[in-house]
Amino acid sequence: MAAERIDQIIENVRSLPPLPAAVEKVIRMADNPEVDPNEMAIIIHNDSSLTARILRVANSSFFGLSRTVGTVSQAIMILGFQGVKNLALGMSVLDRLQPRQRTSSLPIEDIWRHSMAVASAARMMTARTGLSEPEEAFVAGLLHDMGKLVLMNNFGEEWELLLEIDRAQEKRLYQLEKEAFGMDHAEVGFVLCEHWNIPAKMSRIIAEHHLPPKRKQTVGEEDVLCYAVQAGNSMAKIAQIGSSGDSHVEGTLLEIVDSEKLTKEGLRQILLALPEEVSKTEAFLKMGSAKETLTQEEKTKPPAIALIVEDDGEREILAMSLLSMGYSLVNFQRSHDGDTRLVAVIADKSISPSSIEELEQRGVPVLDLLEWKKESHTEGKASMHIPSLRSWLKSKLAHY
Ligand SMILES: [Fe+2]
Ligand SMILES: [Fe+2]
Repeated sequence: MAAERIDQIIENVRSLPPLPAAVEKVIRMADNPEVDPNEMAIIIHNDSSLTARILRVANSSFFGLSRTVGTVSQAIMILGFQGVKNLALGMSVLDRLQPRQRTSSLPIEDIWRHSMAVASAARMMTARTGLSEPEEAFVAGLLHDMGKLVLMNNFGEEWELLLEIDRAQEKRLYQLEKEAFGMDHAEVGFVLCEHWNIPAKMSRIIAEHHLPPKRKQTVGEEDVLCYAVQAGNSMAKIAQIGSSGDSHVEGTLLEIVDSEKLTKEGLRQILLALPEEVSKTEAFLKMGSAKETLTQEEKTKPPAIALIVEDDGEREILAMSLLSMGYSLVNFQRSHDGDTRLVAVIADKSISPSSIEELEQRGVPVLDLLEWKKESHTEGKASMHIPSLRSWLKSKLAHY
């Protein structure tokens, strides 16, 4: 049974849309010191939504900068490659992890609030040690529990039941998850990292956030980030900001204290500063949500879909359904145009490998209409069942 459940989890992760092509490129470029900042700015400019978000977050109280950041090039100069990379990564992952089911005893907002507290604490800790990138620690903290959303979406009530056991017993939530589903949320988080090509350093922090810390003598820079997230996890629980569904705190909290840079007193100051820091990061999260970050121009420009459908009549029914759902239509050949917001291609015939590759690079999925026909037993029939078509479209286009 465990093997089946692991397969189900992995399949679910694979069905999540990839990160936008621009974000993947920014992640790759950020670790290459040879990259020209202008080159990175051009990549970001090609994605208008990413551009708007980076500028808004750069100008928010989150960074507390004294001057206005007006252009992407300025944002790169002020925040650095790593800062911009982490912003782009954090925001696009949040976009893609929307809950399909809601748990009644643990609202999703509580999990994100907990994650924000972990992120803020980890950021403050690494800023004090000066050893690691504070923004890297922030994003790792923000994403550390993201595997829980996949478990929640797949196992709903059953996962919720584990929260009750965690509350009542000695066993920790991640141990209960492993027993019930064959994987715990940290491992699921790692699968998500692999799916989205999230850099190895961050994947490791997410995967290992429930492992016991190593001995202090062998600590490297990467370990500092791991510790910061682990200690941040404990502090968020102690300060009771949000809720993670896991009510235990390990006694290893003080493992991170081993230099004058981060003393016990320093940790306490961070704990006390946490509530205010979290309210600043809430602005970051709001800006990470797709619906709230659309610019005026984007609001008036509905997301576009291209149809590659053999039969004229079927194509028209599909087109009208999409229009009535608030999408616009675009000719596939003309969808390369800079100002078209192409979000998906729906096809029932083959597309050339070069087009597929190009769509993949742009992060545009191709939805197979034949899949719906099979599911709805419409194959070979002259009519299309509209409620079933619309609900298929809705489920496939939920992220756009
Ligand atoms: Fe966790
Ligand atoms: Fe956590």
